[in-house]
Amino acid sequence: MKARVWIKLVLAVAVISMSGCEKKGATVKEPEAKPEATPEAKEIRQMSANEESFGKTPDGKQVDLYTLTNTSGIRARITSFGAILVSLDVPDRDGNLADITLGFDKLDGYIGVHPYFGAIVGRYANRIGKAAFKLDGVEYKLAANNDVNHLHGGIKGFDKVVWRLEDLGVKGAGAVVKLSYISEDGEEGYPGNLACSVTYTLTEDDKLQISYEAETDKKTVLNLTNHSYFNLAGQGTGDILGHELMLNADKYTVVDEGLIPTGENRSVKGTPMDFTTPMTIGSRIGQVEGGYDHNYVLNSGGGTLALAAKVYEPTSGRVMEIHTDQPGVQFYTGNFLDGSVTGKAAKVYQKNYGFCLETQHFPDSPNKPDFPTVVLFPGQRYSTVTAYKFSTK
Ligand code: GLA
Repeated sequence: MKARVWIKLVLAVAVISMSGCEKKGATVKEPEAKPEATPEAKEIRQMSANEESFGKTPDGKQVDLYTLTNTSGIRARITSFGAILVSLDVPDRDGNLADITLGFDKLDGYIGVHPYFGAIVGRYANRIGKAAFKLDGVEYKLAANNDVNHLHGGIKGFDKVVWRLEDLGVKGAGAVVKLSYISEDGEEGYPGNLACSVTYTLTEDDKLQISYEAETDKKTVLNLTNHSYFNLAGQGTGDILGHELMLNADKYTVVDEGLIPTGENRSVKGTPMDFTTPMTIGSRIGQVEGGYDHNYVLNSGGGTLALAAKVYEPTSGRVMEIHTDQPGVQFYTGNFLDGSVTGKAAKVYQKNYGFCLETQHFPDSPNKPDFPTVVLFPGQRYSTVTAYKFSTK
């Protein structure tokens, strides 16, 4: 949608919301605009949640695009296709907005083959060795879509299905969109009918929070994450090697050549894997074969919301802090980007043009009894949260 039309829509909805009704597409007007905002940005710097069409899938399913904004001007756009985070506009230290996630302008890009830009990944984010696992002695065979291993939920994972809108609006201190998906028993080889939902909440204190809920009717395994590729200087502007990263992890899971954990959790101390004190991503990447694509064992151990990572981009001043209740985070430096994908605003994505911090359970946990469990039982509720907090310095 053209910016002017979009602004009109926001303003129209603002009138509705000021008349006291809270509904789909609600907007709460900001009391005071931020001083450095550009004229266009000023108008959208208010809390809102809106819906528009994003097109149709090849088999004719309607796909929508939801836009959440807050009074700092942060704008998150999420589509019902794959529950994908399509864009995330965040101010730099001068108040200028830039989209800091890689992806596509149009639905077609997401329907085609792409490396999970912004997607919700499931049922099992990351790899399952030899594409199989056992539960109660029964072997479940999955698609071997990453050499002999299973990656990111299979051929048609949660990133490639249309999610259903459950809720959209401004609630308390956040603009919210909640999407749901029912994955049927046997889908992609996994047992159990799984009802899951993902809620994106953009808060007034500049946090984009993603919460995941699920229930199953049969014992199954589950590991959901968001696979956004970030570049805090702005998507498509170059590589992310100059970003400073802190990872709150003293250990990582050692992997074999297929990126399947060997079972050993090794100390990062004195190695290029160590980000316990902030270091630029590029400072030692040359010493890591293929670049970073590793699961870090978070010091929190998971279970409670704790700081997992902090990233600072010096030219823009943007800072992103990630809090999660998950026990691990996959740090991936876009090693497989090679210029073959043209993304938003006709930007060509080269190697290392984005980094991912996929909060998650450890790879291959279904086959690693010593790793924190990923088994979900009937009657149990899967509920996890990851929050991305933005600021500048
Ligand atoms: C994850 C994996 C990577 C790669 C990307 C998608 O982050 O760990 O190896 O498969 O997804 O390209």
